[in-house]
Amino acid sequence: MKATVRAHPNIALVKYWGKRDDALILPHQSSLSLTLEPIHVTTTVEFGAPSDTVELHGHAAKGSERDRVLRLLDQVRAQAGRDLGPAKVVSRGDFPMAAGLASSAAGFAALAVAGRAAAGLPQDTRASSILARRGSGSACRSVQGGFCEWMRGEREDGEDSYAVQRFDAGHWADLRMVVAILDRGEKEVKSRDGMKNTVETSPYYPAWVKDAEAEVPRARELIAKKDLEALGELCERNAWRMHSTSLAADPPLCYLNSATLGLIQHLREQRKKGVPVWFTLDAGPNPVLLTNAAHEVAAEALARACGAVDVVRCVPGGDATLLTEHLF
Ligand code: PMV
Repeated sequence: MKATVRAHPNIALVKYWGKRDDALILPHQSSLSLTLEPIHVTTTVEFGAPSDTVELHGHAAKGSERDRVLRLLDQVRAQAGRDLGPAKVVSRGDFPMAAGLASSAAGFAALAVAGRAAAGLPQDTRASSILARRGSGSACRSVQGGFCEWMRGEREDGEDSYAVQRFDAGHWADLRMVVAILDRGEKEVKSRDGMKNTVETSPYYPAWVKDAEAEVPRARELIAKKDLEALGELCERNAWRMHSTSLAADPPLCYLNSATLGLIQHLREQRKKGVPVWFTLDAGPNPVLLTNAAHEVAAEALARACGAVDVVRCVPGGDATLLTEHLF
């Protein structure tokens, strides 16, 4: 009745931006990401506890944060088809900076896999990915390592909307992602709210959906060939298009700040000098730089020169895994 899982976050190379179903968290388009090590979240779930308790990163979770965790465990209870009793959840992130990189993808992936294991359900990456998706969309791509593709699916019940691994972490071991923390502050508009506003008000949204869907197979092909330059260009193009559709929303949504733009400008100059480094950007001001092992030190140096207060150098990460040591 107790299980512990470690999962890694992922960074989308082709982003997910916008839901067609808010309750089930079904996207309008497919997306593709890379799971990242060494950062991770560890979560222990135990059923049969005296009462429902949720502790996240050393604090008792409250309100909507607690509700999201307990709602996911209600899904586990439904899948198990029996009364598992109240649950105790403890989750801790090993993120080497105070804030900046979303821990929710790793957190919900770890919760989904640990929840199913604690309930005695068999290991099943598809079922875990669907469950993780119900916690936070991008979490469905953190159940497995390497390059994972979240297929949008067609069904209204979401049973065909989950992530599959296209290439494992070993496929492109030389790839590096360098997280540049320019701003540690909480973002003003959460992804959830930002994408909803964009879907509802941006006139560019339909074009985003069509374009992003078409980029996924192209990205897959470039990853197969390990073509860093073409993949870097695709990532930048896709990030710009996600941010452009958001800028065109009403009210407009701008996640970039002047330091973000400064770093992007600097990357271009570095590329002219032959440094192979490109960026991607989620719903916040902190870019993630794409490069190779030979240039990760240079990528860190240029991020720091552009004002990064913290830098995390990441390599392709592995699957969410069950641990024998529990958090309580
Ligand atoms: O899964 P959420 O609700 O945290 O949304 C993630 C959205 C982006 O990070 C901007 C893009 C992505 O695909 O991860």
